[in-house]
Amino acid sequence: MLGNMPDTPTAESLETTRQVWSIPRAGSLARLTLNSEPLAPPAEREVQVEVTAVGVNFADVFACLGLYSATPTGRFTPGLECAGRVRCVGSGVVRWRPGDRVIVLTRFGGYATALNVHEETLWPTPEDWTDAQAAAYPVQALTAWYGLTSLGNARRGAVVLVQSAAGGVGLNALQALQTLGARAVAVVGSAAKREWLIGQYGLTAETVIVRSPRFAEDLDAALASLGAGGFDLVFDAVYGADFQPSFTRLAAEGRHVLFGAADFMSTGRRPNPFRLAWRYLRRPRLDPLAMISQNRGLLAFNLIWLWHEASRLPDAMRGTLALIPRPPHIGGRYAFEDAHAALAAIQSGRTVGKLVLEPQRASVARAE
Ligand SMILES: NC(=O)c1ccc[n+]([C@@H]2O[C@H](COP(=O)([O-])OP(=O)(O)OC[C@H]3O[C@@H](n4cnc5c(N)ncnc54)[C@H](OP(=O)(O)O)[C@@H]3O)[C@@H](O)[C@H]2O)c1
Repeated sequence: MLGNMPDTPTAESLETTRQVWSIPRAGSLARLTLNSEPLAPPAEREVQVEVTAVGVNFADVFACLGLYSATPTGRFTPGLECAGRVRCVGSGVVRWRPGDRVIVLTRFGGYATALNVHEETLWPTPEDWTDAQAAAYPVQALTAWYGLTSLGNARRGAVVLVQSAAGGVGLNALQALQTLGARAVAVVGSAAKREWLIGQYGLTAETVIVRSPRFAEDLDAALASLGAGGFDLVFDAVYGADFQPSFTRLAAEGRHVLFGAADFMSTGRRPNPFRLAWRYLRRPRLDPLAMISQNRGLLAFNLIWLWHEASRLPDAMRGTLALIPRPPHIGGRYAFEDAHAALAAIQSGRTVGKLVLEPQRASVARAE
């Protein structure tokens, strides 16, 4: 139900002021500032949403640093997803009504306390989910769904290596693999994440690997513990030194699905451009002719492409919710004005699960 809003908003009540994070041009997180600005009433087929939670993605850091190819040129507001309540609707909108709880997909622009969005980019929030869970869900769950099923052909019994398994996409991937009855081998960056995953996801000591110079041996031990000769699928958004050892352990018909390059991120506040350039120049490369003889394949994707395929979104969300029905694990909740703290946390590589910004939360950033 709608709180203290009028049932039929008048033209005056449609005018609002919002808080919005924006950056004049990509290149440095320090340029990201919070401003107040008027928000026009929603145009035809647009819905105005009062935002109660914003999902923070690793891609937001990449976008602000200018390392993400889809980043707009010039001024932009980061943010690929949020959740909240419909405040009012523009002409021609029949599906949404004031007060509806909604999940919103944005191609940037989500770091705002209110926004106007096309009616096709909304999805109803599942009844028993909080707004934080709703905002935390779509990008990472859709990524896991699309990468594992459409591209990865994950199925019952398949042996699947999941990189950054304690992260946002990673936990969604583990949940999807549980639904499918596939067998997961998880890779994480720290012993603390490993202990957490073993406790929460019932994985064994052999099937959760902490990234280290012993990575190749650990992969062999994990495969041996599952009685498997190779991986049917590698689900990878790190693309670093682990790439080659994982790719060469694909079984015949195995697929390596690459959807990010976290290894090109600097975990500290001051990126070292020379170190990153060196990593980029030394990035792993493959020989397609060798792939033919070895029956292995590499596929890659960027889900932001789906944003231009709005008519496919309902099917995509339905498929995702069937595969990943539980709400996501929230690893940290931050006040909206503490976006810098949330972005620094995700950049550190130490977070577990999803971080969200909440406009109604008091400004004391904390991890749960
Ligand atoms: N292509 C697409 O459509 C798409 C969509 C969504 C996300 N992604 C990609 O998927 C990955 C996961 O996204 P997410 O939002 O769920 O983030 P996340 O997994 O919650 O956080 C990123 C994780 O990357 C790992 N990592 C490895 N090297 C790192 C480095 N140099 N600096 C910082 N972190 C590093 C860290 O975990 P460990 O150290 O434990 O591995 C870190 O927690 C990201 O690479 C993101 O860009 C791609």
